[in-house]
Amino acid sequence: MIDVCDILDALRWHADIGCDEAIGDEPTDWAALAARPTARTPSSGAPAPGAAPAAAMPRGPAATRAPTPATPRPAAALFASPDQPLGASEAGIQARARAGEAQTLEALEAALRSFDGCPLKATAMNTVFADGNPQAPVMLIGEAPGEDEDRQGKPFVGVSGKLLDRMLAQIGLNRSNVYISNILPWRPPGNRSPTQAEIAACLPFLERHVELVRPKLLVALGGVSAKTLLNRAEGITRLRGQWRAYEVAGTPVPLMPMLHPAYLLRNPIAKREAWRDMLALQQRMSEEGIK
Ligand code: URA
Repeated sequence: MIDVCDILDALRWHADIGCDEAIGDEPTDWAALAARPTARTPSSGAPAPGAAPAAAMPRGPAATRAPTPATPRPAAALFASPDQPLGASEAGIQARARAGEAQTLEALEAALRSFDGCPLKATAMNTVFADGNPQAPVMLIGEAPGEDEDRQGKPFVGVSGKLLDRMLAQIGLNRSNVYISNILPWRPPGNRSPTQAEIAACLPFLERHVELVRPKLLVALGGVSAKTLLNRAEGITRLRGQWRAYEVAGTPVPLMPMLHPAYLLRNPIAKREAWRDMLALQQRMSEEGIK
């Protein structure tokens, strides 16, 4: 007879190593699947004969943000090793080619949803592309979806998102006058930190995303976002509070690194610094004539 304590121990062990979501009714042997040829041709993204057709993409920015389950797929050989430099992996190269072809946000979102070069997609429930107004002058970029974002398919909708909304409201901003995305569109299991390989595989999509949106001001929320966008090694406590530059198609766009709302929830004393950074954003908006 199975002991309930053994089941609970097994459950706890899974939660501890980050397996906190059931993504299917039956267990999947990913190692066996990875050994089989992939069902997609890398260059076209088209399903191979006999493979299930991709879900049709709804049109329009709001419509495309409707949560669409990301179908778990086998890991492929194109995944980079964790110590590879950003952009050097086969997945990063493929991502750059696919993202570069997208001329609209809808096309970019479709390209991202059909991209299989990041293993996080296999464990995520949704691809989290963006929220807010893509015409907004201010674009905020966080780290990666958490549990709530993964379920709803939108960035910053959980507790840290609620705090972010309150912080933005203090300077007259909300989701109708800002645009929000993340470095990674898929949740890392158990909210662990993303690896360099995962960032390398997804960054070209975010870079193209920023190019297509062309915001007047950028905000990097948290260390992963700030370090990735600025290509810097220092932590967020050193980077925050000063305007930096992020180049978009040869033009520098002012970027303010800020503390992540999740960090502020754990360290409420740091809200003082976050408030200073919010005021710096408000002042810069006024200098740039942004309402
Ligand atoms: N944290 C992030 O960095 N992004 C989200 O979308 C949610 C939480």
